[in-house]
Amino acid sequence: MPAVESAFDPKDMIFRHLGPTGLKVSVFSLGGWLTYGGTQKGDIVKECLQTAWDHGINFFDTAETYANGESEVEMGRALKELAWPRDEYVLSTKIFFGTGRKEPNTRGLSKKHVVEGLKSSLARLQQPYVDIVLAHRPDYATPMKEIVEGFTQCIRNLNLAYYWGTSEWSATQIMEATQIAERYNLIAPIAEQPQYNAFHRERFEVEYAPLFQQFQYGTTIWSPLASGLLTGKYNDGIPEDSRFATNKAFFESTIKELKTPEGQAKIEKVKKLTKVAQELGGNCTQLALAWAAKNPNVSTVILGATKTEQIIDNCKAVKLIEKLTPEVMQQIEEILQNKPSPPPTFGRDR
Ligand SMILES: NC(=O)c1ccc[n+]([C@@H]2O[C@H](COP(=O)([O-])OP(=O)(O)OC[C@H]3O[C@@H](n4cnc5c(N)ncnc54)[C@H](OP(=O)(O)O)[C@@H]3O)[C@@H](O)[C@H]2O)c1
Repeated sequence: MPAVESAFDPKDMIFRHLGPTGLKVSVFSLGGWLTYGGTQKGDIVKECLQTAWDHGINFFDTAETYANGESEVEMGRALKELAWPRDEYVLSTKIFFGTGRKEPNTRGLSKKHVVEGLKSSLARLQQPYVDIVLAHRPDYATPMKEIVEGFTQCIRNLNLAYYWGTSEWSATQIMEATQIAERYNLIAPIAEQPQYNAFHRERFEVEYAPLFQQFQYGTTIWSPLASGLLTGKYNDGIPEDSRFATNKAFFESTIKELKTPEGQAKIEKVKKLTKVAQELGGNCTQLALAWAAKNPNVSTVILGATKTEQIIDNCKAVKLIEKLTPEVMQQIEEILQNKPSPPPTFGRDR
C-alpha cells in the first residue's frame, strides 16, 4: 500500500478529545446564541463560519431555542453553502426549550420531544444527523430513565446523533443518568455544556470535579467572555452595537449590575487583567479565552462572535495558552480573588 500523505493543516489550532470519546474537537469552537439567526442573518453568518474554519475551528454549536429555530436555519444554510466534507466538522444542537410554541409536548425532555425536537432541528439544519445532541437543561418533570431512553433512541435506533450530553445539569443528575445508562444497557451522556469564565467558576471547578475524575466527562463551555465583559468593551459604558445594547431586555439585570460596587469591581479586574495580557503580547479577550482553555477539563471553549474580526482576534488566544505559566496563573488568581475552595478531604488527600 502506498503511504497516504495527510494534507491536514491544523492552522495553529489545538485539538482535544471530547471527554471519554474518540471524537476530537478544536479547543475553540463557535456557537450561534443571540448572534446567528438573531442579530446576524444572511452572508455574515457564512462569513463567520468560514473565518472560524480558516482558523482551524472544527466544532459548531446551536440549539432548537436559539432565535426560536432561526439559528439552526441560518447555520444550516451556511453549512450547506460552505459544503465542507461532513466528516471534517462536528455539529451539536440542544433540545429542551423548544422553539417558542406553547403546546405541552413541544418542550422538555420527554421521549417524544427529545426525538421529535431533534428531528425538527435536523430539518432546520438541513442535516441528516448532528454529532452531539445535548439536553439543554434538566427536566424535573420527566423520569430520568425516560430521558436516557430518549437520547439512546436518537443515537442507537434512529441514527440522528453519535453522542449525547447535558447542559447546566447538576453533577448528581449527570451521575444519575450515567448510572441508569449502565444499569439498563442504555447510552450514557459524555459531555456537559456549562457556563465557565473567570467570573463564573464554582460549579465547574468544584461540583463537576468528580465527573472529570470518574468519567473523564467532557465539557463544551459557554460565555467564556461573560458575554463580552471580559473583552473590556464595557469598561466605560455600553457601546451601541454591543450585545448589552442589542439585547437590552435580556441583559437588564447585568446592565444594572455594572453600576453597582460588584459590577465596578469586575471592571477593575478586567483593567488589571488587560495589563497582564499586554505584558504577554495579547489583549484581555485573548487572556480570558486562554485562561479558560488552560483548564484541562475544558474540552472546547465555545466562542460567540458577531463579526469576523472578533473570531480572528479570539483565535489568537491559542498562542497565549502556553504563556500562562504557573506564575502568570498565580498573578491572575491574585487579580480575580475568586478561586473556589475545594471540598474538604479531612486529611485524606490522594
Ligand atoms: N448551553 C447553554 O445554556 C448556553 C448558553 C449560552 C451560550 N451557549 C453557547 O456558547 C456560545 C458562546 O457563548 P457567548 O456567545 O455568550 O460567548 P462570549 O464569548 O461570552 O460572548 C460572545 C460575544 O462577545 C462579543 N465579543 C466576542 N469576541 C469579541 C472581541 N474579540 N471583541 C469584542 N467583542 C467580542 C460579541 O458580542 P457583541 O459583538 O454583540 O458585543 C460576541 O457575540 C453560544 O453561541 C452558544 O453556542 C450555551
